Amino acid sequence: LLHVLRRLLELPWLVLLNWGNHFWGLWLWLGEIRRYYWLWPLMQADLYWMQAYGLKSPFTLSRRATARAELPEDLTVYGETPWTTLERIAQAAGLKAQDQVFELGCGTGRTLLFFYYWYGCQVRGYELVPEFVEIFASLNQKLAWGQDVEMHQQNWFEADLSPGSFFFLVGSCYSDQHLLQAARQLAQVRPGSTVVTVSCPLPAEDFELQSQFLAPFSWGRATVYIHRRRQHAAPEK
Ligand SMILES: C[S@@+](CC[C@H](N)C(=O)[O-])C[C@H]1O[C@@H](n2cnc3c(N)ncnc32)[C@H](O)[C@@H]1O
Repeated sequence: LLHVLRRLLELPWLVLLNWGNHFWGLWLWLGEIRRYYWLWPLMQADLYWMQAYGLKSPFTLSRRATARAELPEDLTVYGETPWTTLERIAQAAGLKAQDQVFELGCGTGRTLLFFYYWYGCQVRGYELVPEFVEIFASLNQKLAWGQDVEMHQQNWFEADLSPGSFFFLVGSCYSDQHLLQAARQLAQVRPGSTVVTVSCPLPAEDFELQSQFLAPFSWGRATVYIHRRRQHAAPEK
């Protein structure tokens, strides 16, 4: 009885939190429309994206796929980075059109759309949830991106990162063990590459921390870390 009572008392707070989160999402989205929708190809791609996800919430798709395919729960916690935060990251990191952007856990691929259309970068994403990759492939058929935009259904811990020069990872819910694995895999990137992480910085022996700041995400505010991969130390004689 006590358990049921506690659940009932929790309910109004959960509903309030949920509503608050919807307003927060709406606020972030209005900021995106105001700032970026004048760029017609980006707006068109985003409208197709919205149409594709109209009746399918990415949060639900991700949760179901995690249960069905027994994916690691800490990896597949879903969340989104607003474009306004991506622009701030790109400015702070000095992103250029020549950069090869790799998104490590790209969700629905909406971030890839932004880096491709707004900055003109070649983009590649890795994603574990098969539905996200399938929907992205259907968008590709409509928008004919060619080889400049790729999304792979693959664990990025096992991917070849050598062609990338700019990496973006939201690993806010990664377990300590997966964070270690991520840091080991990221140490393979080319020296001089930019690696941006959210919530957790990378080990100082491999990465020079260039800047950090708080920024908005779909779940609230989190710290962004911008690193440069260090040159390999010269072998001792
Ligand atoms: C928090 S969401 C972030 C989505 C997107 N990067 C953004 O910022 O809007 C993390 C996504 O990364 C995917 N993911 C996490 N670890 C992964 C891994 N090792 N390989 C491939 N995808 C991964 C999850 O399935 C999830 O869709």
